[in-house]
Amino acid sequence: MTDNINYNHIVEYLNNTLPDTDGLLRQIELYAHENNVPIIQKEVRCFLGMLLKYKAPKNIIELGTAIGYSSLFFSDYIKKDGHIVTFEREKEYFDIATSNIAKAGKEDTIKIIFGDAYENVKSLSGKYDMIFMDANKSMYRYYFDTLFPLLEEGGIIVCDNILYKGMISNDDLAPRKQNTIITNIRDFLSYISHHDKLETSIIPIGDGVSVSVKRSTDK
Ligand SMILES: C[S@@+](CC[C@H](N)C(=O)[O-])C[C@H]1O[C@@H](n2cnc3c(N)ncnc32)[C@H](O)[C@@H]1O
Repeated sequence: MTDNINYNHIVEYLNNTLPDTDGLLRQIELYAHENNVPIIQKEVRCFLGMLLKYKAPKNIIELGTAIGYSSLFFSDYIKKDGHIVTFEREKEYFDIATSNIAKAGKEDTIKIIFGDAYENVKSLSGKYDMIFMDANKSMYRYYFDTLFPLLEEGGIIVCDNILYKGMISNDDLAPRKQNTIITNIRDFLSYISHHDKLETSIIPIGDGVSVSVKRSTDK
C-alpha cells in the first residue's frame, strides 16, 4: 500500500481496467506525468465522468486549474451553453492551461481567473450546479462557506484529496508540520457529513474524494 488509501493491486487493477483518454487530454496527462504536475487520478477522472454524465451540469466552479486537465475534461460533459470558471495562482500553470484551452478551442467555455482563489472567489456571482475543490485543502471550509450560496439546489460539491495520503484517518502517517491542514480537512469532512442541507459521501479512490449534493429546501 503506497498511497495509504488503497492496496496497490487494487489501484493497478483499476488503472488497467478503466479506459484511457486520447488526443489533447492524453498529451496533457503525459506532460503532467513528466513534469510532476498534480492532476486528478485516472480512477477519479472516470468516477467524475460518470457523475457528470448523470448530472450534466451547466455551470461549474473549479478551484485549482493547474494546466487545465480537469476543466477540459469537465467541458465535454456540461450543457451546450454552460461555462466553467476556474482559479489558478501559479503563473506557469496558468499560461500552460490558457494554451491548452486554446488548443481545444474552448476559450468561450472555460474562463481561468489568475491569482489567489481566496481573494477571487468572493467576487463570483451567478448560479452554479457543480463546485470542484482541488486547490489549497486547508481552506475548503472557507471556499464552501463563500460559494455554497451560489450552488443551485440539487447541485454537487466534489472535493479531491480529502483523505490526504491516509493522514486524515491515521495520525501515525502525519508529520507534525501537516497538523493544521489535517485538522482543517477533518473539521471540513465532519461539517459536510452532518450538514442539514447536504447529502454527503466520502469515497476512498485516488487520494479520497467527497461528493455532496445540495438538498432542496422542501425536503
Ligand atoms: C491538484 S492541482 C489541480 C489539478 C487540476 N484540478 C486537475 O486535476 O487537472 C492544485 C492546483 O491548485 C493551485 N492552487 C493552490 N492553492 C491555490 C489558491 N489559493 N488559489 C489558486 N490556486 C491555487 C495550485 O497552484 C495547483 O495548480
